[in-house]
Amino acid sequence: MGNDLKLRRWRESDCRLIYDWRINPATMRWCFAQRAFSFDEHERWFNDFLNDCTRCGFMLEDEGAAVAQIRFDPAEMPGCYRISLAAAPDKSGQGYGSSILRLACNDEEVRRRAILLVAETMCDNLPSQKIFARSGFFQSGGGKNNDIALLCWVMPLAVSAQPLLIQFFSEASWLEDIEKLLSTTGLALPGDASAMVKVFLGSATSVVDFDASMLFHINFCENAILDLAIRFPGELKLPIEFHNLQTAVAQIAASLSYLQNCR
Ligand SMILES: CC(C)(COP(=O)(O)OP(=O)(O)OC[C@H]1O[C@@H](n2cnc3c(N)ncnc32)[C@H](O)[C@@H]1OP(=O)(O)O)[C@@H](O)C(=O)NCCC(=O)NCCS
Repeated sequence: MGNDLKLRRWRESDCRLIYDWRINPATMRWCFAQRAFSFDEHERWFNDFLNDCTRCGFMLEDEGAAVAQIRFDPAEMPGCYRISLAAAPDKSGQGYGSSILRLACNDEEVRRRAILLVAETMCDNLPSQKIFARSGFFQSGGGKNNDIALLCWVMPLAVSAQPLLIQFFSEASWLEDIEKLLSTTGLALPGDASAMVKVFLGSATSVVDFDASMLFHINFCENAILDLAIRFPGELKLPIEFHNLQTAVAQIAASLSYLQNCR
């Protein structure tokens, strides 16, 4: 890796290169969507991406040559963004994946838009796990995509000095995972009856009347499904599916902080 690294936004002329990298077997091997697609299809997707102000893509150049690319797409909840990235297939293992991840996560625009970054890696994708772990991402459980086992990652970009308090109604075994996630990320704290945000998991119920509280219910089938959100301060199209409970809670907590900061 040289000493002249530059991160820049995607431009129209990157379309072909990003396609060539994406369909290269070395990259394709680690993509959850294994379906073959034509360049025309990619070009339409790429142009839509460039014209969509809610998404952003970056290219890393080393001495003027493109060496890695990364993109940020809105994730399930407001203020949360999903990362996808790839190094040039003939340049992997040279530090470019780590560099683009670090530089892009510190980009001003990304930090203005996102309060939480999420990503998924295949369970056997060790280089990718290594770069997320070394860049400050926390593992937030597992899941499946197209029957492929995956690990989820989250990284808060801003943590409030006064973390949100959330009261959980749940089986004890789920609470353990949630408390671990909240204490490592600092996204929120498990609260008591005075907490204004209440999250019900599975079949948990309560006889108390929660008049002014914000209420959420997360259901489970294969994934964690947010199917109820009462007094949520933003727009949501329910139900919303998450890979697992920890990721759902992380995104809910982050979106509440995000919407509070937007006001
Ligand atoms: C994941 C990816 C972006 C990493 O980019 P990269 O430029 O190779 O990453 P880096 O060189 O910064 O770091 C990779 C690390 O994994 C290590 N590594 C490589 N192969 C490994 C293996 N089989 N087992 C364990 N570690 C491995 C490298 O040694 C390096 O660690 P080091 O810096 O301590 O030596 C790149 O491999 C890629 O494009 N993969 C295909 C697409 C993909 O998987 N995207 C991620 C899913 S979102």
